[in-house]
Amino acid sequence: MPENQSSLSEPIMLGRLSVPNRVWLAPLAGVSDVPFRRICQELGAGLTYVEMLSAVAIQYHNKRTLDMCQRHADEPLLGVQVTGPTADGVADAIGFLSELPFDTIDINMGCSVRKVVKSGSGSGILSEPERITATVEAARAATTLPLTVKTRLGMTRRSITIDDTARRVAEAGADGFTIHGRTRDERYGTRADLDGIAQGIGTVRAHAQHPLVTIGNGDLFDWASIQKMHSETGCDAVMISRGALGNPWIFREAQQQQTVHPRLDEWAEVVLRHLDYQEAHYGNTHLAAIMMRKHLLWYIKGYPCNKELGAKVGYIESVEEGRQHIRQYASEFPGDIIRFEGAHRADSRFGTNSKYDPKYEMDRTHDRGVGHLDKEVATAQE
Ligand SMILES: Cc1cc2nc3c(=O)[nH]c(=O)nc-3n(C[C@H](O)[C@H](O)[C@H](O)COP(=O)(O)O)c2cc1C
Repeated sequence: MPENQSSLSEPIMLGRLSVPNRVWLAPLAGVSDVPFRRICQELGAGLTYVEMLSAVAIQYHNKRTLDMCQRHADEPLLGVQVTGPTADGVADAIGFLSELPFDTIDINMGCSVRKVVKSGSGSGILSEPERITATVEAARAATTLPLTVKTRLGMTRRSITIDDTARRVAEAGADGFTIHGRTRDERYGTRADLDGIAQGIGTVRAHAQHPLVTIGNGDLFDWASIQKMHSETGCDAVMISRGALGNPWIFREAQQQQTVHPRLDEWAEVVLRHLDYQEAHYGNTHLAAIMMRKHLLWYIKGYPCNKELGAKVGYIESVEEGRQHIRQYASEFPGDIIRFEGAHRADSRFGTNSKYDPKYEMDRTHDRGVGHLDKEVATAQE
């Protein structure tokens, strides 16, 4: 770590918001709901977010979108993320979200999902740079909450636009800037480009109107990769995405600054707690069980005989059924066994140049975030 760089365990001011540490959970469509956020917060995430919401769906007061805005009384800090095809639409949505109990608001300028990009949202805005400025300026005028932007390096390798995006975001008065070190085209097919992130960080700092938080994102799967991101890019904070799936202990790891895998008994305690939070939030419903299946399949990676367990937890019909499988499994092995090393690295599954995208193994019917834009508006207009 460069001598003058703060430790990731130190607090940081995001605008007027004091955040207790610099290792945050990214907004994750279909994943970062109340139960999962609570687990990550309890294990040390300094800040968590509601998944990306559509400004158009907010405009139509779509019920499913508004349901996603719920905050549990125990959540210490909470951000929300929005995207949309027009500057005014995003600003209106931000004005609305500012009245809800959120601590900070992020604008998504990086989502690569085709339907989202085609509608001009997500990374679609990168093809219309003027709209980046207009959106952040309008959003800035619409809220006094800390305002941030999350983006990618550009649309393609041949059109790296991170410097221009960074300058626009800084000059329009944002309080924070997250860079995912890939282009829109790359999706997950390459390693996150730390030099590209460092370049964007340098530019955004050079043009900042006031102190601004820089956040590195991409391929953060353990303490070693977090440390590398921090020291090589000079970012102030990091945002964890796929690395938290089935592995909320990554936040504790970052605070302890070393990899300490959970013992099986501790693992079971956390998974059971997640199941409890799931039931508390979604009720004793079939939906609660379906939405929990993917988490259970991620949790069991790296433990012995997980194929057999996966065949059970991947099909649970109730949260209680999930509890029974986890309790039974934990009782069959010594409590002090730990996961095999690297179980949660994307590249441990598909080789070193992994294209692994967990969205492919999610239940798309209930994946309510990405690709939901026109579906939600259609529902709202019915
Ligand atoms: C299941 C899933 C859902 C995601 N949803 C969002 C989202 O709602 N908003 C967002 O900005 N990025 C979203 N992303 C992108 C991640 O936040 C992150 O930028 C990307 O996965 C790169 O980080 P990683 O290589 O560490 O996973 C999502 C990624 C995944 C895998």
